[in-house]
Amino acid sequence: MSVAGKHILLIISGGIAAYKAITLIRLIQKGGGTVQAILTEGARHFVSPLTISTLCGRPALSELFDLTREAQIGHIELSRSADLVVVAPATANILARMANGLADDLATTCLLATITPVLAAPAMNVRMWEAPATRRNIETLRRDGIGFVGPDEGDMACGEYGAGRMAEPEGILGAIEDHFARGAGPRPLAGKTIIVTSGPTREPIDPVRYVSNASSGRQGTAIAEALARQGAHVRFITGPAEFAAPQGCDIIPVQTAVEMEAAVKAALPAHAAIFTAAVADWRVAHPANAKLKKDAAATAPDLEFTANPDILAGVAQLPQGERPELVIGFAAETGNLETHARNKLARKGCDWLLANDVSPGSGVFGGTDTRILFLDGEKVSDWGPQTKREVADRLVQHLANHFAGGA
Ligand code: CTP
Repeated sequence: MSVAGKHILLIISGGIAAYKAITLIRLIQKGGGTVQAILTEGARHFVSPLTISTLCGRPALSELFDLTREAQIGHIELSRSADLVVVAPATANILARMANGLADDLATTCLLATITPVLAAPAMNVRMWEAPATRRNIETLRRDGIGFVGPDEGDMACGEYGAGRMAEPEGILGAIEDHFARGAGPRPLAGKTIIVTSGPTREPIDPVRYVSNASSGRQGTAIAEALARQGAHVRFITGPAEFAAPQGCDIIPVQTAVEMEAAVKAALPAHAAIFTAAVADWRVAHPANAKLKKDAAATAPDLEFTANPDILAGVAQLPQGERPELVIGFAAETGNLETHARNKLARKGCDWLLANDVSPGSGVFGGTDTRILFLDGEKVSDWGPQTKREVADRLVQHLANHFAGGA
């Protein structure tokens, strides 16, 4: 589904990412949509109303008490005549005002008055994104039905690194298209909180060296995005992966298995938990505080390993009431796939298991394709060769059926 024929009310608030709104407007127009822009007072410092008006082919609005405008259409009509309201960038400040129902300028008045769906693309410094107040506001807004796209993780304009960068305009357009593709009906996983672990873990040897594995995070990212598209609230707990963080999810970055376990515990309660992470089974028992130096004889250090917690087994074996209704594991094997998978399902105590053969030459680790053997209690089905995206969609369909009472 495209944006052709759709009218978007674009609210631009005052962050450095405001310049990306220009590309977003162009992309919507290229897709056949129209844009009416509202700039907050802060946004006017970052982009000129004249640029935005010229691009949109209609005046960019700012003032609540623009009487001529009020006489013509009024802010109520302005917000309701759109097919979708998009807030991009959505600063910590406008999110806080939205969460608290403030209506102290044209942008927030329209947001409070609208009965049109709203999609926000947060953009802020990583500390602001992680601040408890912002977390609370995001939770409130999610419950109020506000959709989110991003933020991404990466270098920030302020020189820091982390989650808080606004999603790229292409990603925001994708989320807008997804919104229209879903139509007005409720999404099957709306109201469900789902934890997804993803990527490798990194176990330090010393401050500059670590033990890890070749997991790219591709499968976990695809699952998280597919869940979010179906309306789930996704808590995505990821080791250092190659992939950009999935759109529309809470991103919780971790390094080690111990950190991943703590993050999973903190993310509970949840309706389901999906463990795609390739967790290191062992960690170095005593990582050095300073870089290990070669001695004169250049003898290799004796590394002592200790077992990491089995995060999946820990959650699967939680008492009823604390345990998510569905606990789903993955199995990476290099032979005897079905036997190992059956044993793993029983040993870990999970409900479903997706097993794949990651033998050298299979190209599964880090690749785009895989072949899943799906275990659901006693039943085993071979899903055949598929892309990891197709696996994600199929798994999410199973979840939706389960929660709808059909699986
Ligand atoms: N897993 C986990 N914590 C660990 C190890 C694995 O949560 N410490 C999860 C993985 O995310 C995956 C499943 O358990 O969903 C199986 O992982 P896999 O590496 O295939 O199995 P292992 O537990 O390592 O068992 P084995 O070494 O026997 O293959």
